[in-house]
Amino acid sequence: MVEGPFFDLTGNVFGRVISGADPHCSIDIPSPCSVIIFGASGDLTRRKIIPSLYRLLAIGLLPDPFFVIGAARTPTSDADFRASMKKAVQEALPKDFSESSWETFSEMLYFVQIDYDGSESYVGLRDKIQDLEAKHATGGNRIYYLATPPAVYEPVIENLGLAGLSQEEGAYRHIVVEKPIGSDLESARHLNQTLAASFGERQIYRMDHYLAKETVQNILMFRFANSLFEPVWNKMYIDHVEITASETLGVEHRAGYYEQAGVIRDMFQNHIFQLLALTAMEPPVLFDAERVRDEKVKVLRAIRPFDLEDLGSQVVTGQYDSGSVSGSDVPAYRDEPGVSPGSTTPTYAAMKVHIDNWRWSGVPFYLRSGKRLAARKAEIAIHFRPVPHLMFSQAMADGIAPNVLILRVQPDEGIGLHFQAKNPGSRVCLNTVLMNFSYQNAFVLDGYERVLLDCMQADQMLFVRADGVEQAWAVLTPVIERLTALARPGDLPNYPAGSSGPAGADDLLKRDGRQWRAL
Ligand code: BG6
Repeated sequence: MVEGPFFDLTGNVFGRVISGADPHCSIDIPSPCSVIIFGASGDLTRRKIIPSLYRLLAIGLLPDPFFVIGAARTPTSDADFRASMKKAVQEALPKDFSESSWETFSEMLYFVQIDYDGSESYVGLRDKIQDLEAKHATGGNRIYYLATPPAVYEPVIENLGLAGLSQEEGAYRHIVVEKPIGSDLESARHLNQTLAASFGERQIYRMDHYLAKETVQNILMFRFANSLFEPVWNKMYIDHVEITASETLGVEHRAGYYEQAGVIRDMFQNHIFQLLALTAMEPPVLFDAERVRDEKVKVLRAIRPFDLEDLGSQVVTGQYDSGSVSGSDVPAYRDEPGVSPGSTTPTYAAMKVHIDNWRWSGVPFYLRSGKRLAARKAEIAIHFRPVPHLMFSQAMADGIAPNVLILRVQPDEGIGLHFQAKNPGSRVCLNTVLMNFSYQNAFVLDGYERVLLDCMQADQMLFVRADGVEQAWAVLTPVIERLTALARPGDLPNYPAGSSGPAGADDLLKRDGRQWRAL
């Protein structure tokens, strides 16, 4: 039984989770397999992939038998690779690290030097995989994980195909591809075609780590496992929707990638559009990867194309200046290491999006995301319409705010509903109160652990299909191209680090008589 405060009304706890832990919620240990990581000396392998696999072992969810091959350009011995991964796990999971679990895990780690472009390398890799499959008796199930810079995705995929490594011979061969999936519609199509030449769509796992966040998955449960909300989830009752993903971090050490990407490629094409699709989609017939992904793509297809001649009325971008975040002084984007002093790369964007279908006609979706903002926060706020008729006196009616439902993705994961209630006492006056459900950090798995398990279990629900990626690019590529053509170095930076973004973003909503929720 999960115990804990369920609802609290301005601070008073008065509810609890009322049903016990469901036996169907237990997680199955996947069948034996191996994971072959390309880009094994990189940051992603160190920070996310290896620590997640280690933690799966520590909590008893790693398949048994199992092994990992790290593949990278620089020759390294198995012993050195193990030592370097040990350090990585100790850094990433200081509380979860134990020498005995590490001992077991490290015996499953191997290294293979590879020339990503050279087909002979893959013959060597194939022999090594087959030897280890015989040694560990994993039965041939494999996951190829692309953790390299995107520039080498295509040679790796092609060479896997040429070496026969993508063929499923009585065992699965899955491939995980990290974002970015292309940098515009054309490059995304090209990458998808390269993938399709060697792998079936059923074998391809395009990763969007936002989809693995517990609260993002919960959007579907919340909408479709309750009868209360879906009847009002439409233009009749909803005034507008706000989707926010704000960060306090700056570009950190990623200028090489970010200078080319900017916030629209980095956050909107994937994470924000996925949140939008989950919020706006129709109920799928079945809770199944294909049906859910069909409905998400339909939302992306229904997004009204942006008016490129009047982009300013729908899209505002910005770049951070120096400022102060959480009490510390931080530099301007242009002063970050690796950033060009005249860079026009946007680190912030706000957009007004229309979805042209029966459910959402006339309901604007306001989206915003940026770096170096006042708070780290990802949420979806559903703003309901005001009541149709106010029976209260003007004095009271002035304070009546419409209902807002907030799906909090992070931090403080949970759901809040703002509604009106009478103030206790003899005077009749109203107050906005909060009904709050909080997950209270009760997560067992983090995003990478979740998606690795799903990939081992052949569940594609949390991964993006080719048509979904391409449709998001189809909407945003013309916008990015137009913004790039219009960008003038003198207009930037236009918001101080630690603020809530550029003033233009506030104007975007003010023009519609609305305002953003505070960060
Ligand atoms: C990544 C972006 O996909 O998501 C980063 O490339 C961003 O720029 C990150 O910081 C945000 O993810 P999270 O899980 O920290 O909110």
